[in-house]
Amino acid sequence: MSKLQPVRGTHDIYGDDARRMRHVVETFARVASTYGFEELATPIFEFTEVFKRPLGEASDIVSKEMYSFRDRGDEELTLRPEFTAGVARAFISGGMQQSTPCRFMSWGPVFRYERPQKGRYRQFHQLNAECLGPSDPATDVDMIALGYRTLMELGVAGDVVLNLNTLGDPDSRNAYRSALVEYFSDHRDALSEDSQRRLLTNPLRILDSKIEGDQAIVVGAPKLSGYLNDQSRDFFRTVTNGLERAGVPFVHNERLVRGLDYYTHTAFEFITEILGAQGTVIGGGRYDGLIKKLGGPPVAGVGWAGGIERLAMMLAETPTAVRPVFFLPMGDAALLEGFKICEELRGAGITVIADRTGNISKRMNRANKASARAALILGDDELSAGTIMVKNLDSGDQQQISIDGLAKHLKAQG
Ligand code: HAM
Repeated sequence: MSKLQPVRGTHDIYGDDARRMRHVVETFARVASTYGFEELATPIFEFTEVFKRPLGEASDIVSKEMYSFRDRGDEELTLRPEFTAGVARAFISGGMQQSTPCRFMSWGPVFRYERPQKGRYRQFHQLNAECLGPSDPATDVDMIALGYRTLMELGVAGDVVLNLNTLGDPDSRNAYRSALVEYFSDHRDALSEDSQRRLLTNPLRILDSKIEGDQAIVVGAPKLSGYLNDQSRDFFRTVTNGLERAGVPFVHNERLVRGLDYYTHTAFEFITEILGAQGTVIGGGRYDGLIKKLGGPPVAGVGWAGGIERLAMMLAETPTAVRPVFFLPMGDAALLEGFKICEELRGAGITVIADRTGNISKRMNRANKASARAALILGDDELSAGTIMVKNLDSGDQQQISIDGLAKHLKAQG
């Protein structure tokens, strides 16, 4: 029987969850279009190389979380573990270099083989925004403002703190990396096994460790701010000044490093306390070397992704579904005529559910259960008079209305 369950870490999404998630996507699409974003839907799977190179062999995603497989043509493919690499691949394949800046919004399922828990799944859904082309810090400000405005429009900005950091340019980052390797090597034996491995592969990620013993060592680690060159420092200052001017509150979190290899300069996460351990609702940053690394031109980029499930969980209320009207035909002639009436109402934008089976009290029960606002009862008498009985299910009032004027009447009530 276990084969009839959804696979661990995956879910069937319906009812309130589906409504909440749809509201998150629709809000994002509306807000992002006010910043000039256009939709880009990339395929759900790509050649494995598309993710391997930019995300970094040492990243958690590439080393242990990707759903990779060979297809029947023996191609090495991977279900997307994020959007950014696929968007960059689309930019290169589509020859979009001539049309920068490109502002792309996307949303959809994403796959990572992680240990499932509340707010963490193996198939989840992301909102994604990328701006390809501009290398100036003002673009970072716009991108972060887009994230903040999305959270405001969802009514959750008050429960979220923007953590902001800079990773500097590659020179600054390399200098910092060396300093970290030196420091952590001195404390090697006290580090967890994971962190010892990271010391060789990706020492910055040790700063991210949630393990207590590691954290005690991290406290004394050198800080990136001490290794930033002037150019990186100026870049970050322009971002923070811009955010202040744009009215986007933030805290500078020097320990924020992000889990992917491709970031340079700006890195940020919007974090909430109300979801428990999985509190990062949006994460992103600048990735100036990514497109070149994939084999494209040296084009800069900055963007972010938000977890749709996590944002949906934060909504104070479930968006209400449209209340339908129930159409209840009594007899064969009414049933037939009903096809025409219902189609006309739907054409006028009214939500109609035709309930054609069972006795009237059963049907009325179903109408009430569906929170219908009205029941439309059509029998032979009404049909010959060209009218229909409209019962308001909130007040209980009933009225005979001419069929010709029905759509207008329901719209006025609705
Ligand atoms: P990320 O931080 O890996 O960044 O993921 C972004 C967001 O996706 C997270 O903040 C979280 O809300 C959600 N998320 C991640 N993993 C899971 C999971 N297993 N279950 C549920 N939600 C999850 C990226 O993906 C980058 N591509 C963001 C980016 C875009 N950077 C530049 N452009």
